[in-house]
Amino acid sequence: MDLVKELEGLIPELEEGLNQSSDLQGLEALRVDFLGRKGRLAKIMARLPELPAAERPQLGQLANTVKQRLTELFDARKNALDAAREAALVARFDAGMPGNMPWKGSLHVVTQVMEELCATFRTLGYDVVSGPEVETDFYNFEALNLPADHPARDMQDTLYIQDKIVLRTHTSPMQARTMLSRKPPLAVVAPGRVYRRDSDLTHTPMFHQVEGLMVDKHVSMADLRGTLTAFMRAVFGPQTRVRFRPSFFPFTEPSAEVDISCVMCGGKGHAHGETCRVCKGTGWVEILGCGMVDPNVFVHVGYDPEEVTGFAFGLGVERIAMLKYGIGDLRMFFENDVRFLAQFA
Ligand code: PHE
Repeated sequence: MDLVKELEGLIPELEEGLNQSSDLQGLEALRVDFLGRKGRLAKIMARLPELPAAERPQLGQLANTVKQRLTELFDARKNALDAAREAALVARFDAGMPGNMPWKGSLHVVTQVMEELCATFRTLGYDVVSGPEVETDFYNFEALNLPADHPARDMQDTLYIQDKIVLRTHTSPMQARTMLSRKPPLAVVAPGRVYRRDSDLTHTPMFHQVEGLMVDKHVSMADLRGTLTAFMRAVFGPQTRVRFRPSFFPFTEPSAEVDISCVMCGGKGHAHGETCRVCKGTGWVEILGCGMVDPNVFVHVGYDPEEVTGFAFGLGVERIAMLKYGIGDLRMFFENDVRFLAQFA
């Protein structure tokens, strides 16, 4: 019986074909050829009507057996190929190879420096406090001995929200807020954003300050000087020299601006025979404003100036970050170029 032989012949033929094909593509071609809808098994089955009716059931049964066997052979070969492929992958896998590091975010350099400055003051016993960026005229000016129409208000180009409501131009309003909510002795630092109507190469409309305030009996200028010197040496290194220059702020008296020996040239004013770019040859860089709390400020917050004294200071965080890391352009902080930021990760 021809059809029986042909059917049975499919098995060794597929075995042969399978042995010769070693990839999934070849395997799929064989499957279509043997088991597909127009494949060889189907073609033989299509000739079933040629047989006498009595022989058809038997052949049909045989066809099923053959089909099952072909499928088994096919699956076995496919499993073997899959396993071999996996084994090859495992053999190539090098567990000691360096991986692809995931891209990791980090704090902005300004945030990092601000936190470092606050941490340094914490070790000196200061509390860290914070307050609103939208501030009233009272806290930003009035309580700080800057009455309306006082010429010193021009020192700060104020951004107004509405009449008597401003974006704070400095962190000094936290002096008044702290003194109104606490009793001396007190020592706080207040980090945060401040805003001024100012925008050029060295000014941005928003920047960061850290305010400091200490009030107690018998606090003196010498305490201020000792505190800031210790602070500057903690931030810029023990070789740092500190000098005070007389200055003016409405809320401190006397007032001073503080310079430190230039972080770039070490105070020499020049490096490699050239004038130092950072200190312009002076050997000093200005770093903050400070002074003894003005008695008028104490009066505004209900402290007795005969009873207590205090000092205050305010510093620019971007400025310190620039000096600390040798960053030449203020705009770097605000452009958020990842190549810049990632250097401080
Ligand atoms: N608030 C002043 C400024 O922004 C700095 C300062 C703070 C000066 C505290 C003295 C005391 O320039």
